[in-house]
Amino acid sequence: MQPYLKTFSLAGRVALITGAGRGLGLEIAKAMAGSGAHVILNGRNADRLQDLASSIRANGQQASIAPFDVADSKALTKAFDTIRETHGCLDILVNNVGARSRKPLLEFSDQEIRSLIETNLVAGFSLAREAARLMLPQRAGRLITITSIAGHVARSGDAVYSSTKHGLTGMVRALAAEYGPYGITSNAIAPGGFATEANAAMLSDPQVAEHFATRSALGRWGKPEEIAGAAIFLASAASSYITGHVLTVDGGLTVKM
Ligand SMILES: NC(=O)c1ccc[n+]([C@@H]2O[C@H](COP(=O)([O-])OP(=O)(O)OC[C@H]3O[C@@H](n4cnc5c(N)ncnc54)[C@H](OP(=O)(O)O)[C@@H]3O)[C@@H](O)[C@H]2O)c1
Repeated sequence: MQPYLKTFSLAGRVALITGAGRGLGLEIAKAMAGSGAHVILNGRNADRLQDLASSIRANGQQASIAPFDVADSKALTKAFDTIRETHGCLDILVNNVGARSRKPLLEFSDQEIRSLIETNLVAGFSLAREAARLMLPQRAGRLITITSIAGHVARSGDAVYSSTKHGLTGMVRALAAEYGPYGITSNAIAPGGFATEANAAMLSDPQVAEHFATRSALGRWGKPEEIAGAAIFLASAASSYITGHVLTVDGGLTVKM
């Protein structure tokens, strides 16, 4: 390996990726395992995670599973206890889970608003706090939060989701300030339009899919695996002096007039 490429290596690191069973989380988990990390796969479907962990191990890489609902604070705390007992450390947290509900505000009940905020924002704080407990004694760690372009711009009919992502953008910056003195970086990746299951409805309508694709500078949807490079970069030594940054990965969607 060329000497500089070694700075992108995650060999020996332990990484927890939430929502790793499919979509962007799956691609980040596979890439991190391929870069040498032991990946701990989170999601609510244990069977799906077990299959993924087996396929990663079949490639000679390291993976285990941590099935829990990120909005269940007791289960979340227990999962971090298990990580502490099993690994004694955590080097990388990828807070990737993001629930979606696109509809006008008038159609939301208070309960639905609370539920989205719990899963997207409150869980983001809980995950970061529990990860920081493990990272602070190490004086090192990487907090990576998957926000969205909806974390800095907004469109009609998406107010609650967009507000949770704006909140996460604030959290990422605030934690950069709080944990920087301890060697822990906090950064975000803000995806644009990626062809994942979460966007199946938009992708299945050719007119909607084409309209959305042509709004980006690159004129197409992102392939899920195209998120991985940003995650490896922010998790590795290559980004050692970057914190509080939001890395937009949107094919130029938010720069095109
Ligand atoms: N795709 C895009 O175009 C796009 C654009 C902007 C931002 N993002 C953000 O990127 C992230 C990933 O998006 P995606 O499109 O890959 O999503 P996705 O296809 O819906 O996948 C989400 C994953 O999270 C798991 N999950 C959902 N709720 C969970 C919970 N409460 N606890 C634990 N695991 C949970 C799901 O598995 P189980 O159902 O088995 O738990 C699934 O594996 C989200 O934060 C999203 O907001 C995506």
